[in-house]
Amino acid sequence: MKYKSILDLIGHTPLVEVRSLSPADNVRMWVKLEGQNPTGSVKDRIALALIEDGEATGALTKDKTILEPTSGNTGIAIAMVAKLKGYRFTAVMPDNASHERVSLLHAYGADIIYSPGAEGTNGSVAMATELAKDKGYYMPFQYGNEANVRAHYEGTGPEILEDLPDVKAFVAGLGTGGTLTGVGRRLKEHDPNIKVFAAEPELGELVYGLRSLEDGYIPPIFDPTVLDGKVKVKARESIVWTKALMQKEGIFAGISAGATIWVAQRVAERLAKDGGGDVVCLLPDGGWKYLSTEAWTQELDVAEEQVEDVLWW
Ligand SMILES: Cc1ncc(COP(=O)(O)O)c(C=O)c1O
Repeated sequence: MKYKSILDLIGHTPLVEVRSLSPADNVRMWVKLEGQNPTGSVKDRIALALIEDGEATGALTKDKTILEPTSGNTGIAIAMVAKLKGYRFTAVMPDNASHERVSLLHAYGADIIYSPGAEGTNGSVAMATELAKDKGYYMPFQYGNEANVRAHYEGTGPEILEDLPDVKAFVAGLGTGGTLTGVGRRLKEHDPNIKVFAAEPELGELVYGLRSLEDGYIPPIFDPTVLDGKVKVKARESIVWTKALMQKEGIFAGISAGATIWVAQRVAERLAKDGGGDVVCLLPDGGWKYLSTEAWTQELDVAEEQVEDVLWW
């Protein structure tokens, strides 16, 4: 296949069945591999959408530097799109981000401003918001920009429906809420009975890329009315199931994928009692950026913790 630009490879990611992870014979579980995007994550979709939206509205011009608070994936994706389109880019990120992320950003030519690691992404958001008062910066702000939601409403959602028109449930992690809001809206427009569930970390549990709404910041673009429930996850379960994805299905995905697949299994158990069908679980990125966390070498067994879930069904 031939492409004019790497940007043409964004989206149209594959859906793969993960048969061994389904808890019931009448439920088929599918994972959408967003790690297949050019920089290895779902964020390529929104990086392109955010920058093209800035260009379309006239807010982003060639004399400006793009500035964005990001825990990594969005920064790497914006760095790639900015490089191709000829913009300078500065990422604001916590100083405890994994070194693979920092190296990749530098490789794409981005500058990095560090916020205190202890303050997490909220610290990066606060710092970037302050810096963006300088008119030389253009801050797309993925947490508050509808172009983030639109990338999923117009891209990810329709792709799922094209592959699985009868999908019964969709599960994704909660970061900015862009994936859940955009895909959720599109799926429910197609069929209001499709269920949408979030994987949300328990307060204080670190699952890279995901956030707990209980920490006090609710992303403005996140529309909780698209949800039929959410399941709280711990770092431990996320790591255990990231490893299980690799060992049972040969899928090398990031840590939030483990959180999401764990939640998808809870949803599948419920769906099994309700006639069964297809569950789609979005895996945001590949495992490369997490190798230094040694998730795959830890001796953890499949978690048997009590499930503290809320499925409004
Ligand atoms: C690794 C990872 N997983 C999940 C998410 C959540 O996606 P969204 O921001 O669309 O809610 C993100 C992004 O924040 C991420 O980087």
